[in-house]
Amino acid sequence: MTITFIGHGYVGLVTAAVFADFGNKVYVIGHTKDKIENLNKGIIPIFEPGLEELVKENVAAKRLIFTLDYKISIPDSDIVFIAVGTPTTKTGDADLSTVLLVAEQIAKNLKGYTVVATKSTVPTGTNKKVRRILEEFRPKGTEVDYASVPEFLREGSAISDTVHPDRIVIGAESKRAQEALIKVHKQINAPVILTNFDTAELIKYAANSFLALKISYANAIAKLSEILNADALKVLEGIGMDKRIGDKFLSPGPGYGGSCFPKDVKALISIAKDNDYQFSLLEDVENINHQAKRDIVRKARKILGDFRGKRIGILGLAYKANTDDMRDAPAIDVINLLQNDGVKISAFDPKSIENAERVLKNVEYKKDPYEVASGADLLIILTEWNEFKELDFADIKKKMKSPNIIDGRNLYDGEKLRKEGFTYIGIGR
Ligand SMILES: NC(=O)c1ccc[n+]([C@@H]2O[C@H](COP(=O)([O-])OP(=O)(O)OC[C@H]3O[C@@H](n4cnc5c(N)ncnc54)[C@H](O)[C@@H]3O)[C@@H](O)[C@H]2O)c1
Repeated sequence: MTITFIGHGYVGLVTAAVFADFGNKVYVIGHTKDKIENLNKGIIPIFEPGLEELVKENVAAKRLIFTLDYKISIPDSDIVFIAVGTPTTKTGDADLSTVLLVAEQIAKNLKGYTVVATKSTVPTGTNKKVRRILEEFRPKGTEVDYASVPEFLREGSAISDTVHPDRIVIGAESKRAQEALIKVHKQINAPVILTNFDTAELIKYAANSFLALKISYANAIAKLSEILNADALKVLEGIGMDKRIGDKFLSPGPGYGGSCFPKDVKALISIAKDNDYQFSLLEDVENINHQAKRDIVRKARKILGDFRGKRIGILGLAYKANTDDMRDAPAIDVINLLQNDGVKISAFDPKSIENAERVLKNVEYKKDPYEVASGADLLIILTEWNEFKELDFADIKKKMKSPNIIDGRNLYDGEKLRKEGFTYIGIGR
């Protein structure tokens, strides 16, 4: 089949590369000339494990073509996927301006019969707006069906998630569109949920908000465990073994971040409000998440007392391991809060320093964890990178001004580090 993706971010680029690898001819439309030129040479604008190789192979095989031009790709395509960003507006709603803008460009260039499917996360009811645009701007004699095909991949394991998803949700209301979308996914062995547009759109928000809820629940249990002198990790292990609950997304830490959970929880609260439902459960999820970041700073104050003249080393800036994504990373809030109190910050992250430099000012970025430790009064671990798991703590201790650690991801054996002379505080234990 011939497919076009609009947008070459974490969703568009990964799914386009995977569908090209399945043997389809895949166009990807962007809006930045430099990036498109680079992509056609196999140089990708984001970090995602295995992606550069996959893009290079499929560009070389001429199955993956990057372009700025709708006229080249849209008339040739059986299916067009919209995969542009839908960030949060000041009011907490999803910003649909790019989705609606590209829908118009797609519509104007349609030829024959085409399925236009939204992969971007969009609020329930967006389908009506996009369908209206497709109808208004499509040339006479063309036929178009709309679909909502939300994406569930995770950054860091996006390729494998695309090839082996837990489910494929297809919100399509015409038989012809359903068949085309089932056909394009035929190499993926996963259950398919066929449903209407509104339901498909809501599934995505309901899924992400539930995952965020699990993380906040784990953080609330961690907080309570600290007060009650219980071990949150054992409590959460104990509940996670119950198959009805499951053990995923139950790790306490500095709170959820990234490009999806914060904005999707906000958007669902806002969708509910617009429809006269106060989703207070999700408001609490957000409050607990904010508290998780403040708690790291509270713990730092507990160890250091007065912050004046102190240096804190941060290990990990990305919102989670195996990504360079800094969008809404907990590190941003934690570092800003510390800097507001006069703390000097040095930091290291294996992949996200370039992105961090754009959002975090007055930070001394270092080449490795040992440089970060040098002269620091306290180390705070904020991202669970594998390479932080086996550090030489004897060396770290020698380099630090005072041997203090806040382990925001519970990576280390606290007892062992205490024996080695560190003041150690984890989360919930
Ligand atoms: N990142 C994830 O893990 C993930 C997972 C599932 C769903 N989603 C959803 O998928 C959507 C995309 O997310 P993402 O993380 O890939 O975003 P992203 O910011 O990484 O990518 C967005 C892409 O859209 C492109 N773009 C912006 N304006 C454009 C325009 N006018 N014309 C053409 N392209 C344009 C950008 O260049 C970029 O390539 C969002 O709605 C997000 O919520 C993201």
